[in-house]
This record gives sequence, C-alpha cells and structure tokens, in this order.
Amino acid sequence: MMIEKTPDGSLTVFSEKYQQHYHSSHGAQTQARVVYLQGSRTHLHLAPKVLEVGFGVAMNFLTTLQDTVSRGVPLHYLAYEFDPIATETLREYTRQHPMFEHEVWQKLLSVWGSSFAFTLGEVTVDVRVEDVTQAEFPLTWASGFYLDGFSIAVNPEVWTPEFCQKVASSMQVGAHLATYSAAGAVRRALQDAGLQVTKHKGLTGKREFVTAEKVTS
Ligand SMILES: C[S@@+](CC[C@H](N)C(=O)[O-])C[C@H]1O[C@@H](n2cnc3c(N)ncnc32)[C@H](O)[C@@H]1O
Repeated sequence: MMIEKTPDGSLTVFSEKYQQHYHSSHGAQTQARVVYLQGSRTHLHLAPKVLEVGFGVAMNFLTTLQDTVSRGVPLHYLAYEFDPIATETLREYTRQHPMFEHEVWQKLLSVWGSSFAFTLGEVTVDVRVEDVTQAEFPLTWASGFYLDGFSIAVNPEVWTPEFCQKVASSMQVGAHLATYSAAGAVRRALQDAGLQVTKHKGLTGKREFVTAEKVTS
C-alpha cells in the first residue's frame, strides 16, 4: 500500500489489487466532505444513519464523525469492507486527521481487522467484513448512503442494477445517496431502482459526481 498526498493536503492510498487510488486524486478530504457528507445531506441530518460501501481507509467515516461530533448529534454508521487493510497502514494513514485522537477512532483501531460493532457515547459503528453483494442490508434504514466502490471497470459488482435495487431498499424515504461515479450505467441503475438522480458539476476538481434521492417507498 502506498500512501500519497492529494492537492488539498490530505492523503490517499493506492490499491495494488485494483490499480486505483482509494479517493479522488483532486483531493481525498474534499471528496469526502463535498461528495459524501454534503452530497448525502448527512451534514444537515439531526441523527444520521449512514450506510457505506466500502469502508476502505475511513476517510468518509472520519469526515462524518468530525461533522456529527462538532454538531453534537448522534451518528449510526454501518459499513461493509471485504478487504480490510493492515491496522498499521490504517493508523499511519489517519495519523494526521483531526479525529485521530478521538476515543471512537482509537477504539476502532483497537478492534480493526474483522467484523465489529460498538457504541461509545452517541456514536455507533458497525463494520462488517464481508462481500457486500452477499450481505443482507437493513430495510428502509439509511438516511444517507455512501456508494464508494472502486470504479465500475474494475469493481463492477457494486454498481449492477441488482445491487442498486438492494441499495435503494436499504434507504429511508427522503434519504440521499452519494457517489463519485457519474458513469451512465451507474446513473441508469440508480434510476431503475426508483431513485431520483442528479448529476453535479465537478466540485472536486474536474470530476462530476452523482446524488440520488429516494422520493417514494
Ligand atoms: C474507493 S475504496 C473506498 C474508500 C473509503 N470509502 C474511504 O473513505 O476511505 C473502495 C473500497 O470498497 C471495497 N470493496 C470493493 N468491493 C467490495 C465488495 N464486494 N464487498 C465489500 N467491500 C468491497 C474495497 O476493498 C475498498 O476498500
């Protein structure tokens, strides 16, 4: 695993397996904040329940934790990750993050490696180490969905119409999904799953991103 700096000063990791970076090369922290946190409107929610595919190196999680802690609202975070990176890499990658010393992050580092769930104060974290395509999602559960697999070219199973149906069924009415992928096939799959899809002009560098709202059950 190679840790690299992105233009906003935050770090990303290069995956040898997928030959791709874990985050936007225009700015990892900016992508987490603009695309995922704000795109899913989690930053406005008074008790967000976030469902994420996949947890990766936790940039989205830490950005969300920082937001909910600063607003004093509870957070329930359910994430799937079938290929957890080494604890030392995760520790190294997150060392400069403002939430590094937070008790939730330190607790997470101490149990990282296989599936776990814990509650500390107002934060519940549930990370399942399994193939998300085989997982059973809670129904009508998420207030925000972070769809953050690697690209459709190398990680196609998390962007299929069938998978997007499952994603949609896990969302509450009024929930918003966010994803960095603006691929036509992804937008169509989300639309066919009954979500109202919006494409946004590149707030993170030149890249467009997509949000999708569940307007009816
Ligand atoms: C782009 S990275 C996610 C970055 C992460 N959200 C973050 O904030 O650091 C994609 C992640 O999805 C995981 N993944 C891909 N396919 C998966 C699957 N079928 N089941 C579970 N996790 C998967 C990969 O192992 C990888 O960690």
